Amino acid sequence: MTDLERHAYDVVVIGAGGAGLRAAIEAHEQGARTAVVCKSLLGKAHTVMAEGGIAAAMGNVYPEDGWKVHFRDTMRGGKMLNHWRMAQLHAQEAPDRVRELEDWGALFDRTPAGLISQRDFGGHRYARLAHVGDRTGLELIRTLQQRTVALGIDVYMECTVTKVIKQQDGSIQGAFGYRRENGRFVLWQAPSVVLATGGIGKSYKVTSNSWEYTGDGHSLALQAGATLVNMEFVQFHPTGMVWPPSVRGILVTESVRGDGGILKNSNGSRFMFDYIPDYFRKETAETEEEADRWYTDKKNNRRPPELLPRDEVARAINSEVKAGRGSPHGGVFLDIASRHDADYIRKRLPSMYHQFKELAEVDITKEPMEVGPTCHYVMGGVEVDPETAAAKVPGLFAAGEVAGGMHGSNRLGGNSLSDLLVFGRRAGLAAAERARATTVPNVADAVLKEAAGEALAPFERDGGENPYTLHAELQTAMNDLVGIIRVAGEMTEALERIEALKVRAKALTVEGQRPYNPGWHLALDLPHMLRVSECIAKAALEREESRGGHTRDDFPGPREEWGALNVICSADGEDVALTRQPLPVMPPDLAEIFEES
Ligand code: FUM
Repeated sequence: MTDLERHAYDVVVIGAGGAGLRAAIEAHEQGARTAVVCKSLLGKAHTVMAEGGIAAAMGNVYPEDGWKVHFRDTMRGGKMLNHWRMAQLHAQEAPDRVRELEDWGALFDRTPAGLISQRDFGGHRYARLAHVGDRTGLELIRTLQQRTVALGIDVYMECTVTKVIKQQDGSIQGAFGYRRENGRFVLWQAPSVVLATGGIGKSYKVTSNSWEYTGDGHSLALQAGATLVNMEFVQFHPTGMVWPPSVRGILVTESVRGDGGILKNSNGSRFMFDYIPDYFRKETAETEEEADRWYTDKKNNRRPPELLPRDEVARAINSEVKAGRGSPHGGVFLDIASRHDADYIRKRLPSMYHQFKELAEVDITKEPMEVGPTCHYVMGGVEVDPETAAAKVPGLFAAGEVAGGMHGSNRLGGNSLSDLLVFGRRAGLAAAERARATTVPNVADAVLKEAAGEALAPFERDGGENPYTLHAELQTAMNDLVGIIRVAGEMTEALERIEALKVRAKALTVEGQRPYNPGWHLALDLPHMLRVSECIAKAALEREESRGGHTRDDFPGPREEWGALNVICSADGEDVALTRQPLPVMPPDLAEIFEES
């Protein structure tokens, strides 16, 4: 092929969020010729939306904190469906990853004693999130980006990968894609490919995710023969902006609640007191003030109900709105103004202050915010080996949000930044090791021509629909039928709509030329979104219970038999096939940790 840029590397990392950059740094430091390929500009990743902090049991604020407590919180938050070994490695290695970030130049907020400050977040027993105001993800990306550039790692910006290429023996041979700027095709040949593509939020109408999060990595992995685990678990962050419509879904960090913010309904009632699970209930509080005092008593390790795990808070908000006690624009009120003075709020939550001032003309130091759930994160992802982040396809690795297992059925806030550092590093290490022992032959021209033909197909057709119509229909279906609360009938309808959209997507048409053609870009993203949506809807229909980020109105509450099962998706031609797989068994020394309170 003449219309093609060819590159050869040892390790190609797809995605430049925290996981991708950490993987690339590690691979490079292991001596691998490494490239990062990203859809957007370097530094622009959903990682920045993890605003509140990095969870790591460093014990700077509570010396009694340690990896075992963090491990237990993470497993309990995930309702015990997490891969135990991933949760263990994550809890053990997160503190080193934070310290390393500091060595590389990250400027964390400090405690009065000069240590890295740690703040409260939902589901964490101790204040554990190392933070930089409410811009922690941004600082993490800034630090990794600077190191990536300083190390001289090649970065291909504004490039979309359309296909993972395999050899005849089924192992990885590289990645194929195009430059968004001019539409020219690119081949990155390599024995190791690390997927670090983030999440799937753009399949939903209301999301905190930006345009890049179209499930590419999940879908590419599936097409390459890898498996996805527990795709039914989608996290709706309880607090996204609800007004004005143009910014609906943008994240309102959990730090607002971590720093004392409270949720109220239209009656002015602090409704979260009505949603406290039995294991944590104080029955005798006569007034909200008394309950507030009891639940915010940190010395006795209590936390306010606004800091229950995200799934529980999101469901509570959903119920209040459904019961007619919502705010004028369909959310609830989040109030920090009555809890702290303006200086404290502006210092701790500078981004939130500016975000509301500029986008909604709300001064959060004086008035409450209007907030509601927004699709934020997918717990499901590529099934990987915990030690190496290797997928089922030789040479394919996955780290960060695109990988599954770590968070079980619900992720605790702050655990994503630590996840992507811990497993990004492990993926980079293993990818480099594999590359040392493997060479790949040149990709055959016929394979490249086929990949190019597939990418150009939307230009070749006439009279089809445009991709925007299909995308909007998919987002509506997922939002309305496979959202926070699910029932079999609605999910079946969603699957029917997805099937019809798959047929229509094959006939869609794009106009114009290849350089910077957003219609073409969406046309190529759409099959990924349809594939991951099919996985989510099918897995959600299969799991007949409610657990974490998956709530079935027709199967309320968790069921014991499902507590021991993962739902695995694999590609079956153009469709998605499901199997049930037993959970890996936790060794007794770790199981003992759950016997302590
Ligand atoms: O609310 C937040 O700051 C988000 C954090 C996270 O998703 O980990």
